[in-house]
Amino acid sequence: MKQLFIGLCVSFLLMACANQSSTEQSLYDALGQYEGITKITHQLILVIAKDERVKHRYKGANMSKFKKGMSDYVCVAVGGPCEYKGDNMQLVHAGHNYTNTEFNAIVDDLILAMEQCGIPVTTQNRLLAKLAPTYKDVVYQ
Ligand code: HEM
Repeated sequence: MKQLFIGLCVSFLLMACANQSSTEQSLYDALGQYEGITKITHQLILVIAKDERVKHRYKGANMSKFKKGMSDYVCVAVGGPCEYKGDNMQLVHAGHNYTNTEFNAIVDDLILAMEQCGIPVTTQNRLLAKLAPTYKDVVYQ
């Protein structure tokens, strides 16, 4: 009976391990967890600051607040153990009439920031897919 119990435990553990290796790495882990995400946000800010298409839009914005808000927002979007305490996306972007072109510019900047942080393209695309629904709350509000 004891042997049967041990046997069952070993089989269970083996099944759990097999499952884990066949499951895709969580996006949060693939981005390097919260530390990796803040590095990307930091890089994104540097890229935006040089981007003539959108840099004027951030004039006067509190960029350390942005860094924390963006990092927390991304962390939550990828299923990380974070809480986003900023205003909702619609409220943050309301009244500015941000355009499709500006939205695409920010996406470009994020891709470049991820590239500079050494994030593989498949992981980049997984994050972009998570952020894509933000579009409706950002553009022409
Ligand atoms: C993928 C698209 C976008 C996402 C996920 C996004 C997300 C965010 C987040 C999370 C914040 C911080 C909010 C807070 O902490 O309260 C923020 C702030 C801001 N966003 Fe966006 N955003 C996007 C696109 C854009 C675009 C296209 C523009 C304009 C070109 C823009 C302009 C701003 C500005 C100016 C702020 C700072 C607001 C302030 O604190 O005064 N965003 N955004």
